[in-house]
Amino acid sequence: MTAVGSKCRVCKEPAVIDLPRHNAHFCAEHLQQLCRRQMTKAIEDFDMFSPSDRLLVAVSGGKDSLAVWDMLIEAGYQADGLYIGLGIGEYSTDSGGYVRRFAAERGLTLREIDLRTDYGYDVPTAARATGRVPCSACGLSKRRLFDQAALEGGYDVVVTGHNLDDEAAVLFGNTLRWDIDYLARQLPVLPATNGFPKKAKPLVRLTEREMAAWCLVRGIDYVVEECPIAAGNKHLSYKETLNSIEMKSPGAKASFYLGFLERMAPMLAGHSAAAAGELNECSQCGSPTTGEICAFCRLVEKSAAHEPVPVEMVLTRGRRR
Ligand code: AMP
Ligand code: FES
Ligand code: ZN
Ligand code: ZN
Repeated sequence: MTAVGSKCRVCKEPAVIDLPRHNAHFCAEHLQQLCRRQMTKAIEDFDMFSPSDRLLVAVSGGKDSLAVWDMLIEAGYQADGLYIGLGIGEYSTDSGGYVRRFAAERGLTLREIDLRTDYGYDVPTAARATGRVPCSACGLSKRRLFDQAALEGGYDVVVTGHNLDDEAAVLFGNTLRWDIDYLARQLPVLPATNGFPKKAKPLVRLTEREMAAWCLVRGIDYVVEECPIAAGNKHLSYKETLNSIEMKSPGAKASFYLGFLERMAPMLAGHSAAAAGELNECSQCGSPTTGEICAFCRLVEKSAAHEPVPVEMVLTRGRRR
């Protein structure tokens, strides 16, 4: 990850990574120090949680969520994991394996939900049943099940592994559409409201590359491949666009996103529809919703009634488009 012979900025020992946005190289120890500092700063600046809070970390088996779980445990927080089996063929089987091994090797508590076993559907089937892109059913299922698991388990905060690259890409998309509602809610911490638990993203000051390096130096094995049915989605193309800007102007991504949080987000406070609108209780599950039946209950009903769709069918359809 760095040129042979480069030295750590702090201790002058051989470096393992160069970080152009910091205009420096770092050894394994000082890379970890930088990551710990950036996570602590995010937790403190945004008042995410304290050591007395019980955290539920949503872990996908990828580098970011395993890294954040590792960093939180190392920092002394009480953090259990939550893995959701999405039924995306081998990708899900492999991801679950990485999460289970990580938890077992460290003696950590892992909660698991399986969409097919527990709710009678999976993401490929939901995609076909709703006629929408797989990420839409996937995102809706994950958001609901994170909230529900946290409330049922008595956790104070749901933690996800979203990093600076993820948040900058989402911000880029929301800005291209001037989606004020989403922009107003794009914060690294969302307070507990209307029956939803508090949510926090402690990695918003750290990049994908830094998290991959964290896993490497800490010996964390993670699923490297991306979700096979998300390939070609807009989020990935926004990431590529921002990466090419970052190559020419190191630090541009961080200043785009962190500058938004500092200077723009305060101006948008109170502009989201959820902040303004009235919420009812879903007539089936009792969750807060703007309609009569919540989007999740509608999704489960439609998808569980559909015959199971193997992941390959969704892949083939995606390629033909
Ligand atoms: P993604 O939406 O795939 O970019 O993932 C964003 C975050 O959601 C990850 O960093 C995890 O914290 C969480 N996450 C994604 N997939 C899962 C999953 N299958 N089970 C639990 N948490 C997940
Ligand atoms: Fe959700 Fe791929 S992980 S659609
Ligand atoms: Zn060093
Ligand atoms: Zn409902």
